Amino acid sequence: MARFKLTFNKQNNSHLGIKIAIREWVLKHVAPSGVVDVYGGRGVMFNRVWRLCAAPYRTSCGDAVSWLSGQGSIVENVFDVDPYASPYEALEVIGGRAESDRIGIACTDGTLRRVAMMRTKIPRFIQDKCGWAERDLQLMAAIYHQYPKFLRHVIGCVMPGWSIERLIVQYGSGTWRQATVYFAAILKKRPAAQNGATGSCD
Ligand SMILES: C[S@@+](CC[C@H](N)C(=O)[O-])C[C@H]1O[C@@H](n2cnc3c(N)ncnc32)[C@H](O)[C@@H]1O
Repeated sequence: MARFKLTFNKQNNSHLGIKIAIREWVLKHVAPSGVVDVYGGRGVMFNRVWRLCAAPYRTSCGDAVSWLSGQGSIVENVFDVDPYASPYEALEVIGGRAESDRIGIACTDGTLRRVAMMRTKIPRFIQDKCGWAERDLQLMAAIYHQYPKFLRHVIGCVMPGWSIERLIVQYGSGTWRQATVYFAAILKKRPAAQNGATGSCD
């Protein structure tokens, strides 16, 4: 008779190889003045990547977005944003608070390509930031099939003060897990944002 394991096996780090690789890529392009890890810090990514780069490292406490929002300006220039769902709320706060002119971000997006694949609903936050409808089937098909292009757009909308210098995108593998995306980017502060003005969504 088949035996089933009844304990709940929480998979915090699916696609471990991809997650490590995108973080190592960030370190190749940005010499970290410090690392801020906002979802589940001091976990596998800390042990496998951040701890080894020997930069100052800190993690969020409690809800990531609330914690970031309470930080004032942030001096670190590398950000690990590894939620189960959307990284965009945290990225908006990081965009508004990072002091450095050039930052690296390593993110998991468990939302945008998933809602596009399932043709469910664009989350309210992304609707508002990007001016998208809740359920536009053509848009969803386009997001699913041309995710990197739409990712660039969403980053532009949530972090208007930054331009994308480099971007890498990797999809999960498997019927459902392909909806999860791992991406990393090197972002440069736009000149207007360096003077305190915010840019626009392009
Ligand atoms: C994919 S795991 C992160 C794994 C981690 N980066 C590592 O290296 O092991 C997502 C983490 O986010 C945490 N989390 C979920 N919702 C959160 C929230 N609103 N604020 C902060 N952390 C949250 C979960 O408890 C979980 O530890």
